[in-house]
Parts: sequence; structure tokens; C-alpha cells
Amino acid sequence: MCWTITETDQYDQAAIDRLGNKFLVGNGYFGYRGTLEEYTKEQKTATIVSGIYDRVGDLWREPVNAPNGGYVQVSVEGQPLNVLSGNVKCHSQSLDYAHSVHHRRTAFETASGNMVLIIARRFASLAHPHLLCIEYTLQACRECEIFIQTGIDGDVWDLNGPHLERMAPSTAGGVICLSASTHERGIPVAVCERTLLPGGEETIFQGEKRILREVRARINWTHPYIFYKFVSIHTGVDSTAPLEEGIALCNRAAAEGFEKLYQEHCRLWERRWQECDIQIKGDEEAQQALRFSMYHLLAIAPTHADTVSIPARGLSGQVYKGAIFWDTEIFMLPFFNHAFPAISRNLLMYRYHTLDGARRKAAEYGYRGAFYAWESQDTGDDACTLFNVTDVFTNRPLRTYFRDKQVHISADVAYAFWQYYIASGDESIFLDGGAEVIFECARFFLSALYYSPERDRYELLDVTGPDEYHERVHNNAYTNLMAAHTFETCLKVRDLLLARYPAQAQALIARLGFARDLAAIESALKKIYLPGPAKTQPVIPQFDGYFALEDVALPDLLKRKLHPHEYLGAGSGLATTTQIIKQADVILAMFLFSERYTKQEKAANWEYYEPRTEHGSSLSACSYSLIAAQIGKVDWAYRYFMKTATIDLTGEGKQYVGPLYIGGTHPAGNGGAWMAAVLGLCGIRCASDMIHIEPRLPEHWSEVNLPLAYRGQRLNLRLTQSEVEVQAAEPLTRGVEIELGGAVYRLPESGALTLSYLPEQVGQSA
Ligand code: BGC
Repeated sequence: MCWTITETDQYDQAAIDRLGNKFLVGNGYFGYRGTLEEYTKEQKTATIVSGIYDRVGDLWREPVNAPNGGYVQVSVEGQPLNVLSGNVKCHSQSLDYAHSVHHRRTAFETASGNMVLIIARRFASLAHPHLLCIEYTLQACRECEIFIQTGIDGDVWDLNGPHLERMAPSTAGGVICLSASTHERGIPVAVCERTLLPGGEETIFQGEKRILREVRARINWTHPYIFYKFVSIHTGVDSTAPLEEGIALCNRAAAEGFEKLYQEHCRLWERRWQECDIQIKGDEEAQQALRFSMYHLLAIAPTHADTVSIPARGLSGQVYKGAIFWDTEIFMLPFFNHAFPAISRNLLMYRYHTLDGARRKAAEYGYRGAFYAWESQDTGDDACTLFNVTDVFTNRPLRTYFRDKQVHISADVAYAFWQYYIASGDESIFLDGGAEVIFECARFFLSALYYSPERDRYELLDVTGPDEYHERVHNNAYTNLMAAHTFETCLKVRDLLLARYPAQAQALIARLGFARDLAAIESALKKIYLPGPAKTQPVIPQFDGYFALEDVALPDLLKRKLHPHEYLGAGSGLATTTQIIKQADVILAMFLFSERYTKQEKAANWEYYEPRTEHGSSLSACSYSLIAAQIGKVDWAYRYFMKTATIDLTGEGKQYVGPLYIGGTHPAGNGGAWMAAVLGLCGIRCASDMIHIEPRLPEHWSEVNLPLAYRGQRLNLRLTQSEVEVQAAEPLTRGVEIELGGAVYRLPESGALTLSYLPEQVGQSA
């Protein structure tokens, strides 16, 4: 099986944008777009550093794109070798996603008929989070002189910049540097570069926003010219002396040498794959798409800090303000929970570190507790604006209520803490801040409830659920269910802490003044309205009055559009008065609360909502895959799995909302691919006491092998069309129980168990 993806002769603007995302390399600290070395800001080169944001004037606050230390321009016979200026004989770009290494190979024909070949490879070191390494090779058919310019280009691509000011080039021994500070807070940013250029007399060119080395050399076919670039990226967010640390890192890297660093980097990536790789036998396409999805999650996963999380477009650019949405908690966390629980913990701790921002937002809206930002950045204050979409017809900003009304975000955060605990058994997360987050989220919902005296129940009015096309609705089923779950989680965590860590529990409750709220939460939980399937109406109304909206078919609604990018929601969007929804809403709730609903109820809801869902968000497909698998619609489960798993392979996702460019990678879609494969088609559901397995493998999947981290134990699972084998990957430290087809089995001391099943027998209990 090949672990490399290659594209040839792709360099029109659309392809440049697409490959920039697709071929991104990253190590969680920074992402480096899959552009070519000679590209500049017009081709969207970017080094997006996690956790540093900046705002210019009243434009959107967004992540900082650091100066590009990977810049190289070679000229021969006075002509720059640049794929954009023509004379390309053949060109390919590829990504070795087993190791996160980008390769390019381009042959140029010069004016005199000589052939010059460029071969380059680069990686964002997994061992050294601040280091980018590049190897650049030149070869020519006939001997010729080459002129190389390489260094740091500070004239970067920004959506709402420029963010970097007081740019200062400098040199320190063999290292060249470009330092700057951010506009809003004056945070220092330093990019340094040490290049090993063989032979040639090197001169340094210092421009306003760039510092380059220039060298001339002679090359031919038997004497290729090879040089190495070691680039460091530091900011004041994570370093006390960014420039000095950068210089030292470049020198250390140069002393180690490219090959050693490359080997070390590859070993670390291989170790990662050992812990998470899933092998699907019988389906090369699905295999590649799933691995590629996991690659994109791994390349942006923070292993270096617990103060940052994963933005909705990863580290592929500044789209969506580099903000963290519920995408991370609901769609990415399951993968990390079962492959790299330590990364999950980092992601969750980010929510603890931003709790004060959530408290400020709750207070701003007159609530108590924690109302998490819809678009969260470094402080936890909401980056989401009140006018978040621009009307394509009038070019005026539209009032949207994402920020004000998507209260489910606080429940999503609480849900994620609990899921992490279920998967890992790690109670310390509650003591380290998780309990405080959950308590404050529960307190928020307590203050948001409305008591209806006629119905003697608590309701949540004037909210927006996951389906953003219907804003300001009452009793969105997803939101009410999630709020109730937050209350339940709050009480379970209280009980757990009081039983196991009574002194700490009591101190926390006293510090938060939470005792009275706990009593109120207990009684609210008994009376919160949970819209559910009724005998006469098995379909759950997405919100009060949903069924009374116009029931138009999706293709007919789309025919009403006057502009390809017009927004279907907000005040008067086409979908707002209809039953057409943007993304999975009830269907997602049915997955998150799988045990609550029967198969018949799930089937009725899937059949109803599936044709009414536009999938205007990349978060949508996986939920339809998951429920399709649970109701035995394996062909649909597969179709939606492939839709989510190929999103960054094809690059065909939605690129615009109104006139706004929203392209980039789709980590939630990538996480959704893992969920659809493992939790859906393989049918794995981890509870605190056992693992339930209900395989629904597509017919052509003859075997799936997957590792699973479960409550501190690493397991390997093998599923075929008739067997499930569970094997402990390390000596058993705890009892593990497996439920299959209604029977419960215990993993024996030997650590291996093989069970047979008939596909029609599993799932009888649901
Ligand atoms: C979706 C949200 C999502 C956001 C970021 C929006 O289009 O509707 O649910 O959180 O994109 O991915």
C-alpha cells in the first residue's frame, strides 16, 4: 500500500490553493502550506503558528502567518525557474503522509535548450516543534551557472493583516534572521535560517521585508548542487527570547545535519502510526482516504502545549479566524481519545485555560457560569462577530446569531470532558480543571432555562442548534438534550469527586459557591423538556414548529438561488422558512445519545432528515454515516464515510460563504472519517464498563485491523465479516469486557479473544 500522494503538472491558481491545503506539513506547533519554494504571498505561502493571534483595526482577529523561511528562487541564464513563468517540462508535487514530508520535482527547459531539474523535500520536525528543514537539489543536463536567492520572505499572505510590524532583518554568524512584532499586542515573532551552501561566494541582501542569501555556482549532471535550509520559528507566546532561541536552534540543527534530523523525524512519525493506523483490506480507496484524514489530524495536533487547540481549518491558513469551534470537541476528540489520549487531554485543558473568557461571555449576555465562545482564540473571548456573513447581493454584512445563540457550545465542551473520561478512565482531568469547567457549563444552562408554568417544564428558548439556517428557535432538540447531559455530567462528576476526593470536591464547590446550584440542577434535570419521538410521530421535531415550515425538496430550493454563493440562512435566506437544514442536527443527537433511541426511531429520523439536509457544512456527512451504519444501511454509511474521508483529498468542499473564502483543511471532516469508520462501520462503542461491538462492514471490506486505547489499556482489534478478535497490545492491567450480539465476554488473562458472529445477529438489543 502506497503512503504517498502525487499530483503532476498542477499550478493554476485553483490547484495552487488546493495543493497548499492538501500537501500541508505540520507538527502541531506550526503548519507549512504545500506550496512551492519559489512561491510568494500571491500563491498563499503560509507558516501558521498555533496560538498566536492578531487584530488590525476593526478587521477580524486571526492567526499570524510568520515570515516564510522556506523561500528559494533559482535563476539560470537570467530567467527565474518558476513554474508560473512557463518552460516547465514536467512537474510533480507529492506528500509522503507516513512521515509528513513534502516532495517536489520539476524539470525546466531554459532559453538555450538546457534542462535543469529541481528536487526538494521538506518537513516540519516532529522532534523539534520550532524547526522546518528543507533539502534542495539542482541538476542540469549541460554545465551552466545558477544564481540562487534563498532566505526569509516577510511579505506574507494575510486575510485581515498586515499583522507583522517593525520588521528587522539581521545576521548572527551564519544565521540570517527576520524579527517583527504583532500589531495589536506587540508580540515578538522571529524566523531564522541557517543554510549550508556549498562553494560559491555568498552575499546577503537585506530588503524592507526580506533577507536573502545570494550565491552563484556552476552545476552539471554529474555534480548536482545540494543545499540544506534549517529554519526556526519562535514567538513571544512560547518563548522568552525568540530571536536568540531561533539562532541557537538553527545552529544546532545545522550541526546535526539534515539526514539525521530527517531520520529522527521519520522514526517519530512511524511510532505515531503504530499507535493509530487502521488497515482496511479489500478497499484501497477507503484505506487511503482514512489514512489521509488521520494524517491531517496528526499534522496539526498539539503535543507541545495544553494552552492551544485545533482550529476549524487546522493550521492551513487564517480562514475562520483560526478559531476553535465545537468541531474539536465533537468531531476530532473521539480519534484522539482512542489513539492519543494525551493529546485529547491537551485539547480539553485548552478549554480550562480559556474558562475565564467563557465566564466573561456569560456575564456579557446576563447569564451565570461559562458560555464558551462560538469562535475561540487564545483568551477564550468570542472572535465571532455579530455580522459574520456578507450578503452577496448587497455586499452588506448580515446579522447572524452564531455568537449569541449557539449555546450548545458549552454543552459540547462538557460532553467532551465526559467522553474523554469514559475512554481513558483518567479522573485527574476533573481535578485539574475539568470539574470546574463542567460545573460552570451546568451553571450557565441553569441560568438560561425558562420555566413554562403551563407545561410544568424547563425549556431553552431562542437558541440556534447545529443547523445554522434556522436561528433563534425554541427547544432545539439537540440543544435541550445536550443541556440535560451537561446537568447529568455535572452531578456524576460531583458524586465521583465526593466519593474519591472529598476534600478537593468540597473545596471546589465552596470556592465556586456551587452548593445551591447543585440542588437546583438536580431539580431542573427532572423537568427539562427533551423533545423525543412520539408513538404517533417517530420523527423528532428539530425545534418547536419545525414541521409547520415549507416542506420543499432540496433541489427545488437550490433552483431558487440567484447567486451560486448566496447564504441560505440569516434573516431572509432561502432555507429559513423551509425544512431544509444546513447540517446534521437531530441525527447527530441520535448518534451522541445512541442508547436512547431504538433502531426504528433512528431509521425514521434518518429517512426524514437525510433528503432535507444540504450538507452545507463538512461536519454533516459523518453523522449520516454513523446512523446509517447503526440502522443497517451499510451502503449509505459507506457513501457518507467516503464523502467525509475524501474531503481534503479532492479539495472539493464548499469554498465560499457569501463572498467569503472559507477554504482550507477540514479537521472535523477528518475526525468524522475516523468516527464513521471505527464507531460506525466497525460499530465500536466504548462505555465505562465495556466495549460494545456491532460490526457493519461493507461487503468488500474483508478485514479491518485497528488499535484502540481504552481506559489505559491498548488493544488491537481485528474484524472480518464473521469474526471479531480482540487482543491486548500490552500486558493486561485491568479487566476488559466486550459485548457482541447481546452476549458479554471477558478478555482472558492471555489477552486474546476471538468471537464469531453473524451480521444479522448483531444489534438485536438496540
Ligand atoms: C458550521 C459549524 C462549524 C463551523 C466551523 C460552520 O459552517 O455550520 O457547525 O462549527 O462551520 O467548521
